[in-house]
Amino acid sequence: MSGNIYYPDSSYKETAKIHNYSDKYQEFTKDPDAFWRRIASDLLWFEPWDQVRVWDHPFARWFTNAKLNITYNCLERHLNNDRRNKVAICWVGENNRERILTYYQLHKDVMRFANGLKSLGVTKGDRVCIYMPAIPEMVVAMLACARIGAVHTVVFAGYGAKALNERITGSQSKVVITADSTVRRGGSIPLKPIVEEAIINAPMVEKVVVLRTQEPKVGLLDDLEIDFEDLMSSVPRQCPPEPVGSEDPLFILYTSGTTGAPKGIVHAAGGYMVGAYYTTKYVLTLQENDLYWCTADPGWITGHTYGTYGPLLVGGTIFMTEYTPDYPDPGVWWRLIEEYGVSIFYTAPTAIRMFMKVGSEIPDKSDLSSLRILGSVGEPLNPEAFEWFYHNIGKDHCPILDTWWQTETGMHMITTMVGEPMKPGFAGKPIPGIVADVVNDEGDPVPSGTTGFLAIKEPWPSMMQMVHQNEERYRGYWNFGKYHYYSTNDLAVKDDDGYIMLLGRSDDIIIVAGHNVGTAEIESALVSHQSVAEAAAIGKPDDLKGNLIKAFVILRNGVIPTPKLIHDLKYHVRMMLGPISVPAELEFVETLPKTRSGKIMRRVLKAREMGMDPGDVSTLEE
Ligand code: PRX
Repeated sequence: MSGNIYYPDSSYKETAKIHNYSDKYQEFTKDPDAFWRRIASDLLWFEPWDQVRVWDHPFARWFTNAKLNITYNCLERHLNNDRRNKVAICWVGENNRERILTYYQLHKDVMRFANGLKSLGVTKGDRVCIYMPAIPEMVVAMLACARIGAVHTVVFAGYGAKALNERITGSQSKVVITADSTVRRGGSIPLKPIVEEAIINAPMVEKVVVLRTQEPKVGLLDDLEIDFEDLMSSVPRQCPPEPVGSEDPLFILYTSGTTGAPKGIVHAAGGYMVGAYYTTKYVLTLQENDLYWCTADPGWITGHTYGTYGPLLVGGTIFMTEYTPDYPDPGVWWRLIEEYGVSIFYTAPTAIRMFMKVGSEIPDKSDLSSLRILGSVGEPLNPEAFEWFYHNIGKDHCPILDTWWQTETGMHMITTMVGEPMKPGFAGKPIPGIVADVVNDEGDPVPSGTTGFLAIKEPWPSMMQMVHQNEERYRGYWNFGKYHYYSTNDLAVKDDDGYIMLLGRSDDIIIVAGHNVGTAEIESALVSHQSVAEAAAIGKPDDLKGNLIKAFVILRNGVIPTPKLIHDLKYHVRMMLGPISVPAELEFVETLPKTRSGKIMRRVLKAREMGMDPGDVSTLEE
């Protein structure tokens, strides 16, 4: 397990000082409650907490009985603090359309939109679904919900109608906020028709708010649809923050499950706020003069914690763009970094590998000297990609934060903090505040160098509070072997220094280009097609995307397998679930390997696909 080690450049000593790893870890171990209390005390609370943490397995309550509003901390705290005219969001659209929102302007828009939501009858605790492109209005919509204590459920605008419907009905959203379309790679993709289809079987939806960006403006349906801007202009300007309980839900974010429907991960207001603030300040080290770019869409947890709430909590400046990494050409992101002076760049391994493939002469054309910190998230950053990122983008001096975490964890859990030696291929150590280890299926630690499961041993503030309306699924996370550990469902290995390398999922989730896709969702989408009798999906390693989806399909009697049918089935999945879930490869088969109890053995399919030994097949049906 030996490999290169990179020691931090001496210029990072000052940054590292704000968080000396071993001192901070010791401080945490000595008194965990005091550690979190000190962090939480940087923020403004309307009413103080009784207790920092109450751990009653598997439920953790954080900052009990405190009252707060996260938007008060994201907005007013800065308005009162010399950041009134500081840029909160700098957005660049295709064709270099630019929009700037200062903290003052963001505050104003959030209050207006929050009043607009109130005028539609949205009150504290109501769920609101947001299905929008990555534009400043998305952030305004999220914060407006939080302002009045409504619970947002953001759905990534690449999801199809069925996936959107499941999330709207699952969360019982009363209002859906969307846009007419989204701009992507020089074209425009309509969103409103997808919403129209998604709400056909969603009787709980009372209103749809539509941001109209195109000319001529798309028509709106009377009584159901309302224009985003009209909603903002016809309401009072002031909207005081609604005090919410620390344990009230802030948002629900859906993530793919191993079986059945996606899981609505619920994050609670107080703990989530503290976790997002802590890690943005001390892991990303976001500082006053940084221009910070997180390339994740707000539709994912990374876009929630590190694209929206974290940077606003610390009073940072967010850079957002519509540009994808390779359109109009693969130099566009580097030109944006040079043009705007981005100093923290947080992206995904799949993008890094794409850049690697097209060659270092492309970033070499841009001056990247503004960069200070690089980050990666979503899947393992393989050593080759680390090296390329470090040398070609970080110019041998920017630290790389390979951050391991999940929708469920809400915040960073494992990484190599700024100032610590970096080992390519290893995410790093648990950050101060997190107790994690690599264990066997009993929950006992495995020796270094041995593969095991990554488990988190103690609760942390931004841990999910619940799986929406599914306590059983929530409980399932918190039982590991004979211990009350949180099970991450990731495989990992630790070295002698305690650095952790992530090896991929141990369950039926496929991480495709950093996105979480459940085999169950793909299979049920395929089976819903009239030609399909049965289907199984597996992840197949891919140099660029980490994994790609391969589906095996048994056709119904009498259906003839044709190349056209392959195309139809892929299109069917795209319409239902969105492009991320479309199988790259689809093969017609006569049978599928199953256990005697009828469960598809995807492990056997995968081994066969890769020419490997399928391992124990004793439960395989004859
Ligand atoms: O398998 C791990 C992988 O992504 C999963 C979580 O996916 P999601 O909830 O969509 O959140 C992604 C963004 C936080 C994990 O269980 N993963 C995430 N980050 C890393 C990673 N695998 C290896 N290294 C990482 N840095």
